[in-house]
Amino acid sequence: MFSRAFQIKTTAFRTSSCKLFTPGTIRLMSTQYEHILTSRPNPSVALITLNRPKALNALSTPLFLELNKALFEADADQAIGAIVLTGSEKAFAAGADIKEMKDKEFSDVYKNNFLANWGELSRLRKPVIAAVSGYALGGGCELALMCDIILASPTAKFGQPEINLGVIPGGGGSQRLVRAIGKSRAMELVLTGRMVSAQEADQWGMISRVTDNVVEEAVKMATEISSKGQIAVQAGKEVVNAAYELTLAEGLRFERRTFHGLFATKDQKEGMTAFVDKRKANFTHL
Ligand code: CAA
Repeated sequence: MFSRAFQIKTTAFRTSSCKLFTPGTIRLMSTQYEHILTSRPNPSVALITLNRPKALNALSTPLFLELNKALFEADADQAIGAIVLTGSEKAFAAGADIKEMKDKEFSDVYKNNFLANWGELSRLRKPVIAAVSGYALGGGCELALMCDIILASPTAKFGQPEINLGVIPGGGGSQRLVRAIGKSRAMELVLTGRMVSAQEADQWGMISRVTDNVVEEAVKMATEISSKGQIAVQAGKEVVNAAYELTLAEGLRFERRTFHGLFATKDQKEGMTAFVDKRKANFTHL
């Protein structure tokens, strides 16, 4: 588990930021993984790096099982306030593993509900920031879209090229893209398979912003989020996500009730008292 992590002094390692990421002391989880790397750039942030470089981080079933395990461990760890998910400089992830899928039959994929466990990420309560460099294609684009915030380096390329393989997106792309960038643009990506640059994705409102050193920026953002009260952060994530599901009237009521509920927390008393006292709030996540 992240909380039972042991500490080692690391040498610098390469992540999807365009330069070496040198977090100093990194805490590694005790679990050893084959297809992902896990680390703690600081005590309140979990960094998960997809690590199948030869296959451009193609999302195989074993990779996804490891990813889900690491994500839920981080979500359960009280010391962690936010999670960063990244890949390599060349690829965040080039999609579902085509070699694994190519001989599957309808009966396999239907009976085993192939890809259903991909949606686990969207059940996490803590915020997940995608730090995307290089290809985020097919399932890789869908994985980024499942995250709460997407930061992209100038090299990032997003797309849903499944149409070139005789299929369509299966990891939520058709639904999340429509909500993120609208029907016409989503339809263009899904039906042509065209890749869009980080800059175009930014103009379309698909990502938060384009930035150099994307992993460092994502870790910085995750650290900032972790400095807030965790109950309010989780409530904020919950109400924003509710906008996908609810009518405006229901969503506004849900937001207000959740806002009311936060007055039962010590963090609300601390946050408002600290403002009045002109000092920094010391949140205890209670
Ligand atoms: N699955 C399995 N292997 C993949 C892969 C994938 N999605 N993407 C890349 N690879 C492998 C290649 O087969 C190659 O392996 P070998 O060296 O063993 O041949 C290695 O990664 C390097 O790839 P390329 O030589 O193709 O690298 P490139 O720089 O010339 O091209 C690329 C990069 C444009 C991303 C190209 O690899 C590509 O088009 N990949 C497939 C993208 C794709 O179609 N993704 C959608 C998958 S379907 C899906 O995701 C369904 C869903 O909705 C869940």
